[in-house]
Amino acid sequence: MVENLLVLGLQWGDEGKGQIIDALSDRYEIIIRFQGGANAGHTVRVGDEKFVLHLIPSGILRPGKLCIIGNGLVVDPECLLDEIDALRERGIDVGPQNLAVSDRAHVVLPHHKIIDKLQDAALGERKIGTTGRGIGPCYADKAARRGLRLVEMMRPQTLRRRLEQLAAVKGRELTELYGADPIKVDELYAECSAHAERLWPFVCDTLPLVSEALRDGKPILLEGAQGTMLDVNFGTYPYVTSSNVTAGGAAVGTGIPPSRIDRVLGVVKAYCSRVGDGPFPTEQDNEIGQLLRKRGREYGSTTGRPRRCGWLDGVALRHAVAVNGADGIALIGMGVLSTFEKLKICVAYRVNGRQVSSLPSDGEDLAQAEPVYEEFEGWQTDLSGAKTIDQLPHAAGEFIKALERTAGVPVEMASVGWERRQIAGRTGNG
Ligand code: IMO
Ligand code: MG
Repeated sequence: MVENLLVLGLQWGDEGKGQIIDALSDRYEIIIRFQGGANAGHTVRVGDEKFVLHLIPSGILRPGKLCIIGNGLVVDPECLLDEIDALRERGIDVGPQNLAVSDRAHVVLPHHKIIDKLQDAALGERKIGTTGRGIGPCYADKAARRGLRLVEMMRPQTLRRRLEQLAAVKGRELTELYGADPIKVDELYAECSAHAERLWPFVCDTLPLVSEALRDGKPILLEGAQGTMLDVNFGTYPYVTSSNVTAGGAAVGTGIPPSRIDRVLGVVKAYCSRVGDGPFPTEQDNEIGQLLRKRGREYGSTTGRPRRCGWLDGVALRHAVAVNGADGIALIGMGVLSTFEKLKICVAYRVNGRQVSSLPSDGEDLAQAEPVYEEFEGWQTDLSGAKTIDQLPHAAGEFIKALERTAGVPVEMASVGWERRQIAGRTGNG
């Protein structure tokens, strides 16, 4: 049976979605992103080569696949063009035959990035620690019904008119609120026109592509960005990103009806990382965290920032499984834990002297939540040779069983190395 599969992150982003999507994309004809923007950094390793994708779906590295940037994204034209150029330079074929960008997607403009940085800096100690890619301000304009969509950017007269309108509003915000330079409409128009000139072959109404695929039974892979704990509804608000990262967002960000998303696979790291500010109950701001960061190469692939690291958070994981309706888990980073003698999984929190097993909605409660851990023996051997989960050492199997008990869904595959092929399935090779 042809299944449309949604793959998304169940933690704070950087779970390793790129590796899983790249490995699975082989079996799908269409790979589509549904939210976020160039704040994402999806790393795929093919042989000795490493690719980091920000906007283009991770399926682009497989020939003959159609990759779609869905209507739910905020697209930075400059960033997209750079990404296309960089892939082409490395011999990856990118053209309208394998990349389509929804004309309903919103455009990230230079002032979105400026406001993003100024706004976050103005928060001082309460800053979000955004990626500075203009994501929040662009989605804010979208919701306020004054955003610029790609379809409008492609039409010179409409573009001019829209830029004049938004320069009036945004220009005042920049000058009066932040003391920054006003928007120069002529310059911005010239810049947008130049981007439109290069991007138009890729930009189209992507709905017919999606509807035809659904009608003809062509399998679709939906690629999430960020992670559930960064979702604007279900994450650790306000320390979140500005999009619907979770399964519901996949339908509104693509035009694929919810009833046609057949399965949800959640990507989970065997430990946790968070880049940016906000509560992180299992954080290990100590040697354990440093070791996780070193072994897991936990430095932001978009901003280069060192990621905060800690033990697997089962409370957050259960919450993520529930809000996404995850059917199963793709587990990443078991190898990173290989040197530890003892391992921990957080199974509950202590909040205000009481033990809780569900995620508190209140940020203050979450900030002071003390994790209640279960402890496990480490395996202290290299896992990279395992072809199936059954072949993993006993201790690793026990750790996975505990994770499954906590999450309430099975681990369907586990990556045992960085490369495309190093994914152990339940049976056979993934
Ligand atoms: P991938 O797709 C990890 C974080 C930022 C910040 C917060 C808000 O690679 O998993 P934003 O720029 O989105 O307004 O920042 O969200 N963040 C991510 N963290 N992985 C990501 O993407 C992220 N995208 C945004 O660090 O805390
Ligand atoms: Mg990333």
